[in-house]
Amino acid sequence: MDIDSIRRAAKYIRESENLVVFTGAGMSADSGIPTFRGADGLWSRYRPEDLATLDAFLRDPVLVWRWYLWRISKLKFVKPHKGYKVLSRWYKEGILKYVITQNVDGLFIKSGIKEVIELHGNILRAKCMSCRYRASIDSLDKSSLPLICPRCYGLMRPDVVWFGEPLDESVIETAYRVARDSDVMLVIGTSGVVYPAAYIPFIAKEEGAKIIEVNIEESAITSISDVFIGLKAAEALPLVDKYL
Ligand code: OAD
Repeated sequence: MDIDSIRRAAKYIRESENLVVFTGAGMSADSGIPTFRGADGLWSRYRPEDLATLDAFLRDPVLVWRWYLWRISKLKFVKPHKGYKVLSRWYKEGILKYVITQNVDGLFIKSGIKEVIELHGNILRAKCMSCRYRASIDSLDKSSLPLICPRCYGLMRPDVVWFGEPLDESVIETAYRVARDSDVMLVIGTSGVVYPAAYIPFIAKEEGAKIIEVNIEESAITSISDVFIGLKAAEALPLVDKYL
């Protein structure tokens, strides 16, 4: 283990005034949620074009809903791991200001962090394709599929961003602003290959922020990282916390 990287990361965080965390699926891997890419990733077992595009949904909304409800059912048993607990404490102590996440699992909110920007939406919510009404999946009648809007009886879809869809403009603009204002960005568990989300660490770096990366392997972000911690998120964060 590279204690020097842990110490340097802790020093940057200790001296920061505006710490922002940016995460991808690797942050939730230690809670048992599969990532997207790599040998065990979701995209090695399922084809995104069959399940995670608007075309796929319009072709077979029942199939797509089944897949999302299966993923949601697995989330019920998921607990935020030790790394989430550390970030939640840093947030409550005022050390961590914002989380920007590509994850749709809602685990940061479950951990008690309120300033969370969910770039790709939230799998626990649905939105009506006709009247735009948003509702938690829990509150909807799931006795028959696809899910139907309780307000206008329109077709409801998962409230997530699919391949080929633009991100919500106000969400990405807020994320860019938060990135520009950060002085330390802690990037955890992302391959950094999906845009526009992947611009975020580069924007922070360009505006002078230090970049700390936690990942079990090098990513597209590593070239701009000031500190690279080659550990799992659930191991790295408690260690950095220890040296804070
Ligand atoms: P990926 O699956 O592309 O990358 C996961 C990253 O996490 C990789 O770099 C892994 O090395 C790393 N990793 C895995 N386990 C880890 C652990 N225990 N601790 C730390 N790091 C670990 O996931 P994302 O980068 O999040 O988009 O993918 C970005 C987007 O692509 C997702 O938001 C999703 C997907 O298609 C949409 O759904 C729109």
